[in-house]
Amino acid sequence: MRRKIVAGNWKMNLDAAASKELIDALQAQSLNPDVTVAVAPPFVHLGAAVAQTQNSKIGVVAQNMHQAPSGAFTGEVSASMLTSIGVHTTLLGHSERRAYFHETDALLAKKVDAALENGLDVIFCFGEELEERKSAIHFDVVTRQLTDGLFHLDAAQWKKIVLAYEPVWAIGTGETASPEQAQEMHAHIRSVLANQYDNELAQGVSVLYGGSVKPANASEIFSQPDVDGGLIGGASLNAADFAAIVNAF
Ligand code: PGA
Repeated sequence: MRRKIVAGNWKMNLDAAASKELIDALQAQSLNPDVTVAVAPPFVHLGAAVAQTQNSKIGVVAQNMHQAPSGAFTGEVSASMLTSIGVHTTLLGHSERRAYFHETDALLAKKVDAALENGLDVIFCFGEELEERKSAIHFDVVTRQLTDGLFHLDAAQWKKIVLAYEPVWAIGTGETASPEQAQEMHAHIRSVLANQYDNELAQGVSVLYGGSVKPANASEIFSQPDVDGGLIGGASLNAADFAAIVNAF
């Protein structure tokens, strides 16, 4: 059975005190034990978040990492730095990284390799822009993002990969893909995976949906057969809302 996952992407929000407060508040919530729950605070809070969540079911995930092992890359953080502080999963390829920091599919393929070489799990984010959906090329765009970012991996490496389909037009806009739109794309993703690898691999990978998931729409989205959870931005900054989303399964 596929893992159900809800991860909170805090983006560039919350200072140290607010980060601690949010994790405390989350730990005080009762969370569905069948769901893997994680938060992705900014780099500077990761060490504190790992210590704070030591005895809880909340995992700590990085938002990004650099592809090189070390070197003259001012302002960057490597995979081994993350594992050295107890972080064992990273997001990669978030649409804000792609749009504002010019991360390409080719670069992301290198980042994925660096993460896996260092034993990290990857939550790989991708999704089409509004214009691409309007031009009806959204399935092609997603196929390309998967092909160029991930299809160099062998089947064993896919055990470390979680996918997060996030249509860019639904991120932070309050506009959510309809449950049918999410299901249709998630089914497409599995068929592309089955084509490239096999059906067993396609059925085993958790595929999350992201983009304006809220307590009010989470259960309808999560009830779709190919949706295995969510990557939550705005609503993950509120403990009660995030817990309600976790418990929406
Ligand atoms: P949102 O962000 O829930 O605020 O739309 C989702 C994301 O960017 O991961």
